Amino acid sequence: MKILGVKGMNDILPDPLGPMSVWQRIEAACRARFDRYGYREVRTPIVEETRLFARSIGEETDIVGKEMYSFTDRKGKKQLSLRPEGTAGVVRSYIQHSVHSKNPITKWWYGGPMYRYERVQAGRYRQFHQIGAEALGVAAPAMDAEMLLMLDGLLRHDLGIQSLTLLINSLGDRADRASYVQALRDYLGSHLTGLCEDCKKRYERNPLRALDCKVPPCQPILDKAPRIKAHLSSEARTHFDTVLELLSGMQVPFEIKPRLVRGLDYYNRTCFEFVAGGLGAHDTVCAGGRYDDLVKTLGGPSIPAVGFALGMERLVLLAPKELSRRPEGPAVFFVSVDEEAISTCFRLTESLRRAGLEAEMDQRGGSVKSQMRRADKVHARFAVVIGEQETSEGAAHIKDLRAGEEVPVETPVSFEDLAAEIHLRLKRSS
Ligand code: HAM
Repeated sequence: MKILGVKGMNDILPDPLGPMSVWQRIEAACRARFDRYGYREVRTPIVEETRLFARSIGEETDIVGKEMYSFTDRKGKKQLSLRPEGTAGVVRSYIQHSVHSKNPITKWWYGGPMYRYERVQAGRYRQFHQIGAEALGVAAPAMDAEMLLMLDGLLRHDLGIQSLTLLINSLGDRADRASYVQALRDYLGSHLTGLCEDCKKRYERNPLRALDCKVPPCQPILDKAPRIKAHLSSEARTHFDTVLELLSGMQVPFEIKPRLVRGLDYYNRTCFEFVAGGLGAHDTVCAGGRYDDLVKTLGGPSIPAVGFALGMERLVLLAPKELSRRPEGPAVFFVSVDEEAISTCFRLTESLRRAGLEAEMDQRGGSVKSQMRRADKVHARFAVVIGEQETSEGAAHIKDLRAGEEVPVETPVSFEDLAAEIHLRLKRSS
């Protein structure tokens, strides 16, 4: 019986079978850019108490209501969940370690798998990977703008994604939101017959979620729904205007999207999404916003914060061809002419590895032809064929697998000098 992976949870295979090198290049680009903006990596557990997510993301959200992988621990006492996102765990850790008392401003980034029981489609999976960052301790709009500059630079410049739009909105503060939710509920209540079944439910439980609805008959109703802008306090409005001015001043393009609300309840003021062309229905590659009340809600002091998360699978789908360069193979592939030569190859392979080179051999032996084919397949740069003569003389020829046939036969290189010679040749050709 063949046991397959779980639906919606994918293997990421090494090249050339899979896109591993693209993943690694995106991760390296994120790391390098986050470093420049002063973000430090944090790693938190994949499993947390379920109530952490319920309290932060919100009981009424789809994520907590129907998408979490939850279970009771072995003693039957604790309700635990696989993390559906990273912010809740990072904030829990920030509070638990009293980070605010050691440093007024904290910039952390993280990456790893997240779990949501969603309907699986292209770009939407049940295990997916996020790279996210959280800046805690600063309420000023310049922090929102700095974060968006960092993301614009990462996505457009470092990763070369051209078809990108930054959508931005303000959700106001708690009181603004409450007054807006009331206005929205009144409006939706007077249009209930035209709304889809989901929106009818959202009208009661979480009217903001209706603004996200994609069902065509709902669109004309939602387009005419009241806008949050009219409900923003003057502080929230000034905050939003300042973020937009700072972005314009740095030539970062954006589009204000009044219907942009987020699927998690912790946001206030600035919220944003980067959407990209060519991804179909699930075109948001990055999303985030301000969450000034969350630290307090989770039992910490009142600390403002802003953050985002990038969807790795979607970025990999978008990454331009240049990011998936032909993989580098080993520097040297040792080929044994006969059974006796295998042990010499074994020694030489290890001595080159100890000298810092990637070296490979076929431990099974076999014909020279089949071993050369294997060297080619793994994209080895040089081949060294070892037979009785090479073993007894302690020297061998280095064959450049990228050069054509016409390379003149050179004098053999002694085994002691092999590593230095390969290092030299690699340097010369780089
Ligand atoms: P989110 O919008 O739920 O926000 O997810 C962020 C990104 O993760 C999405 O824009 C998308 O690219 C990716 N993503 C989400 N669900 C899936 C899925 N099922 N399959 C593939 N990719 C997916 C958050 O998670 C917030 N924690 C972001 C944040 C950080 N806000 C403040 N700080």
